[in-house]
Amino acid sequence: MSSILIKNGKIVTPEATFIADIYIEDETIREIGKNIGATAGITIDATGKLIFPGGVDPHVHLELPVAGTVSSDDYETGTRAALFGGSTTVIDFANQTKGHTLLEALETWKNRAHGNTFCDYSFHIAITDFNEKVKAEIGTIMAKESITSFKTFMAYKGTMMIDDRQMLGIMDEVKKHGGLVSVHATNGDMIDFLTEKFKSQNKLTPQFHYLSQPEITETEAAGRFTDLAFLTGVNGYIVHTTCRGVLDKVREAVKRDQKVLVETCPQYLLLDASVYTDSIEAAKWVMSPPLRTEKDREALWDGIRQGLIQTVGTDHCPFVWKDKLKGKDDFTKIPNGAPGIEHRMELLFSEGVIKKRISLNKFVEITSANAAKIFGLYPKKGAIASGSDADLVIFDPGKEHVISSSTHHHHCDYSIYEGWKVTGKVSSVIMRGRLAIDNDVIEIEKGYGKFLKRGLPEMAG
Ligand code: URP
Ligand code: ZN
Ligand code: ZN
Repeated sequence: MSSILIKNGKIVTPEATFIADIYIEDETIREIGKNIGATAGITIDATGKLIFPGGVDPHVHLELPVAGTVSSDDYETGTRAALFGGSTTVIDFANQTKGHTLLEALETWKNRAHGNTFCDYSFHIAITDFNEKVKAEIGTIMAKESITSFKTFMAYKGTMMIDDRQMLGIMDEVKKHGGLVSVHATNGDMIDFLTEKFKSQNKLTPQFHYLSQPEITETEAAGRFTDLAFLTGVNGYIVHTTCRGVLDKVREAVKRDQKVLVETCPQYLLLDASVYTDSIEAAKWVMSPPLRTEKDREALWDGIRQGLIQTVGTDHCPFVWKDKLKGKDDFTKIPNGAPGIEHRMELLFSEGVIKKRISLNKFVEITSANAAKIFGLYPKKGAIASGSDADLVIFDPGKEHVISSSTHHHHCDYSIYEGWKVTGKVSSVIMRGRLAIDNDVIEIEKGYGKFLKRGLPEMAG
């Protein structure tokens, strides 16, 4: 039996902040209390440090095939970077391809990940080709594979987008089994219309990526998704929310006692559309939806404080610069997505807690506990409690550092946060009872991470 004793850390949960010891046996937290006397294989003095539940990042894309290339972090490099940043669980997306089943998608993605990850993982399944056969798979996948969340796209016509009739069919079936439907909520037809217009006018520089996806494209789709979820009664979750308009739709839903769950990402909280210029340099920030404006960033922080936004995922989807350059003469050829899996917790601590936008307890809610609840992993994940998995972050709240592609662990040759000054740094990470990261060194081997079985969503309406 292995054991770790962490002494005198300041433990932070959604409900409380207190100084105590944590005693771990094998993969599990066994005891939390003052002056635990047990002798352990490893003793860590955490005086002056904060202790958070291991982060749960509900939105990542590792090794994702996109338009003739693949996102540049595979399961090995991506989950290692996640661990360095304090995330001990990541949830990726297994995307159905047209004419194929959901199970085929899941098998493909499971094979990519199996034996290659440092941290634990699961998948949402993205339904892109809904029919009677696929409908019948939903209940089976939930029961047999413990996948309880299904992603949908209201954009990317021809490859991923589904129409409202299909959305209703998916929602109705997922509701029957108690699962959750998530959505990339942007209006594909509006975006295609604007994109074609700009292309016909020879407007091809990266800023036209931004201009082809204005806020209304997102607000409209999020509102429609919310209405469809209301009609069917399904648990709805909007991924990578960027703007005030979406939150206003969610506020409207609250008035009729509907709870729609909302995720945002650090890039939408911290960066803005001023990066979108005529220069190809702007391709670094080409993602969908695009970055927005100051009023949206403020609205998102408000949304977190008000409990309208429950989770912050990264939507980590990096492409090396050579791949981004594919779009140097045509913004529609720039692969969409950006790196960020490593920086989520440190950025949210620095910009959220240190700058007093959110409390320490809210920080834990949005970085681990809520995602664990929503995606059926709680209290194994997202909690510091006796019986929970021993996934812990020991965090130095005063340590300053600077984000750079020369030091990050992403497999990507640039950073969208290059030069960003951060206060607060991960000191150590315990991953299911193993000291996984210690002073910037990884101590566990590839393959330690395992596929997680998930339960039904909590927190939904
Ligand atoms: O641009 C982005 N966000 N790429 C990743 C895929 C998605 O739509 O989430
Ligand atoms: Zn998306
Ligand atoms: Zn995504």
